[in-house]
Amino acid sequence: MSYGRALGLSLLAASLVATNAQNNTKYALVNDFSGSNFFSGFRYNASAIDSNNFGNVHFIDQADAVSGGLTSVDSNQHAIIKVDNTTNGAGDPAFGRNSVYLISNDPLQMGSLLIADINHIPLGCSVWPGLFTQGANWPTNGEIDIVENVNQATINQYSLHVGQTCNQPASAATQQSGKTTGSNCTVVPALDINSGCIVQETKQNSFGAGFAQAGGGVYAMQWNEQGVSIWFFSRGDQIPSDISSTNNSPDPTGWGLPSAFYPADGCDPSTVFGPQFITIYIDICGAFAGQDQVFASTCGSVAPNCTALVPDPANYANAFWDINYIRTFSTNPPNTTTGSTSTGAGGSSPTSGSNSGSNNSGSGSSSDAPASGLASALLIPVAAMLFGLLTLV
Ligand SMILES: *[C@@H]1O[C@H](CO)[C@@H](O)[C@H](O)[C@H]1NC(C)=O
Ligand SMILES: *[C@@H]1O[C@H](CO)[C@@H](O)[C@H](O)[C@H]1NC(C)=O
Ligand SMILES: *[C@@H]1O[C@H](CO)[C@@H](O)[C@H](O)[C@H]1NC(C)=O
Ligand SMILES: *[C@@H]1O[C@H](CO)[C@@H](O)[C@H](O)[C@H]1NC(C)=O
Ligand SMILES: *[C@@H]1O[C@H](CO)[C@@H](O)[C@H](O)[C@H]1NC(C)=O
Ligand SMILES: *[C@@H]1O[C@H](CO)[C@@H](O)[C@H](O)[C@H]1NC(C)=O
Ligand SMILES: *[C@@H]1O[C@H](CO)[C@@H](O)[C@H](O)[C@H]1NC(C)=O
Repeated sequence: MSYGRALGLSLLAASLVATNAQNNTKYALVNDFSGSNFFSGFRYNASAIDSNNFGNVHFIDQADAVSGGLTSVDSNQHAIIKVDNTTNGAGDPAFGRNSVYLISNDPLQMGSLLIADINHIPLGCSVWPGLFTQGANWPTNGEIDIVENVNQATINQYSLHVGQTCNQPASAATQQSGKTTGSNCTVVPALDINSGCIVQETKQNSFGAGFAQAGGGVYAMQWNEQGVSIWFFSRGDQIPSDISSTNNSPDPTGWGLPSAFYPADGCDPSTVFGPQFITIYIDICGAFAGQDQVFASTCGSVAPNCTALVPDPANYANAFWDINYIRTFSTNPPNTTTGSTSTGAGGSSPTSGSNSGSNNSGSGSSSDAPASGLASALLIPVAAMLFGLLTLV
């Protein structure tokens, strides 16, 4: 590409971002998941066990996770989420390592911004971390993958998975800094079609050991009428000054091009997504990290296959999240005077449900737990992600 053309494209991109500035600048804080309040904003799904999809892992409940040291708040007020790295599973052919699957009590509505300030993303051969959002009914209410990759990958991948017609148009290439490797976001579970629309981060230090060595960084996801945008800022580079644990009105219009952008003209953000529940987990092996070609690509010199690593707890010393905070903001914040109204499953569309939700920080309320539909959604997104990722190989 010539310099002139590159400049033209970046000016075009800049003007598009500037246009978006007019009505998405006024974010207000909705939830602050941090310190001693971090885990009260989430539910633990102890039943999400499926060896076919998830691999060699058992998701445990809150009481066991706390007593086993899998979720904790350290002396620096960081939230720590890890897999068991003390149990030796040698000799047990059915061995699965303990881990957790966390889902936020409150969903994000359209018009939301999520900022995750992270020091460490789980890493290592056989390790598969995820930080994403999903609707109560999958794929009808969609899924937005913010942090996900496996094994010794050094860059992050973003993706959407939705049940309706949804593509990332070619025009997005000039509106994001990442590299698109799949543009069709549409999922057809009955046909095992789920390639997802994947954008690869181009910044180094966005995943793995490099992420931690650079001091971690910030991931931010915006879902509004213009579409879905995701940014990454390594702590080794400059994190925008309006991203902090104390600023309650961040302004993404000053952050430059997002790493991934899924514009509304290819995928209507008001219809393909329902209220989005924040999900955090660590899987081991399974159909992504454990897929033979995927595993061999970064860990072939470490072990002959993924499951060979699982019994030895020493392989999991780095399989932990260390999170400063996850904060959510909205341009149309929930009406806190009405109390908890989020119903999750079968919930209203984002556009009609803009007043649902609640200030849940610290309350740990379970009265607003998503209804049953969420349960059936838990396993499917991961399974579906796998199909999509496998098609990449
Ligand atoms: C936001 O701006 C876009 C583009 O100018 C416009 O189409 C949309 O209606 C605006 N939304 C609101 C809520 O003002
Ligand atoms: C949520 O409510 C608690 C208790 O009323 C309050 O201390 C906190 O500031 C509120 N948080 C937000 C984000 O509104
Ligand atoms: C995207 O995938 C779906 C499901 O396979 C398919 O129906 C649709 O035609 C695809 N869209 C494009 C633009 O290829
Ligand atoms: C994985 O490797 C181990 C160690 O070589 C071997 O015993 C085991 O059979 C392998 N598993 C599979 C599924 O290939
Ligand atoms: C387990 O992992 C933690 C970090 O989460 C590490 O500090 C500790 O040394 C590890 N323990 C073992 C036995 O590997
Ligand atoms: C919030 O709820 C109260 C009580 O129902 C109502 O009076 C107020 O108008 C609502 N505010 C918004 C912004 O919806
Ligand atoms: C956890 O997931 C399982 C499997 O999808 C489901 O049966 C169960 O109801 C879920 N539990 C909660 C608390 O969401």
